[in-house]
Amino acid sequence: MARRKLIAGNWKMNGHLDHLRELHGIEKAAKTHPQVDVAICPPATLIAPAVARVPGLAIGAQDCHAADKGAHTGCLSAPMLKEVGAHHVIVGHSERRADQGETDSDVKAKAEAAHRHGLTAIVCVGETEEERDAGQAEAVVTGQVSASLPSDATADWLVVAYEPVWAIGTGRVPTLDDVATMHAAIRATLSDIIGDEAPGVRILYGGSMNGDNAAELLAVDNVDGGLVGGASLSADKFVPIIEAGAALA
Ligand code: PGA
Repeated sequence: MARRKLIAGNWKMNGHLDHLRELHGIEKAAKTHPQVDVAICPPATLIAPAVARVPGLAIGAQDCHAADKGAHTGCLSAPMLKEVGAHHVIVGHSERRADQGETDSDVKAKAEAAHRHGLTAIVCVGETEEERDAGQAEAVVTGQVSASLPSDATADWLVVAYEPVWAIGTGRVPTLDDVATMHAAIRATLSDIIGDEAPGVRILYGGSMNGDNAAELLAVDNVDGGLVGGASLSADKFVPIIEAGAALA
């Protein structure tokens, strides 16, 4: 089944207003290559100004609360993010699972909140280095997929991102065979959970993707795009990844 590639940038806790200038080159590349979807998830403070500055580029958030409102100091809800123009929200990034102790059921509730308010949920999964060394990578990741995804999820609002924790920000990437094996296992698990919707769900690879390795990673079976951290912070580094995706479409 043909799935449009999605190249999504995650700026994490990086960037101030002056950094939005990078979005012009990214928006231009997105318009030049309409056969791929492109999104940038800046810090929440930059969502509204980013939407105003580059209306042609999909802007997303990096997290949302599971509740729509209430006594949750410092948190942001899905309807708040939607109101300021977010299209997507990343949920369950490994940094939040580690730093904020988010569990699979938290992540599932966040994905449900995203859907209730018309946001595409990018649900992240991935094993640690210890888990991979112990031969548990596939069991860990498919377990996360099973427990983090709403069973009524459909391909029009759910994206899964496989991000091995040991590959994030390290310059290390799994072998292409390992990526293929894991993405196939995720696809099979999706079939168990959401049946007929599974073939349409995009599964992104994330972890040290850059302009040099994007073409080969994006060509792997069942790799339907990338979730890009460091290399999404500048147009110079991110545009070649968009181009690599476009060349495969
Ligand atoms: P990285 O981050 O591209 O800097 O490795 C990816 C991510 O954490 O989404």
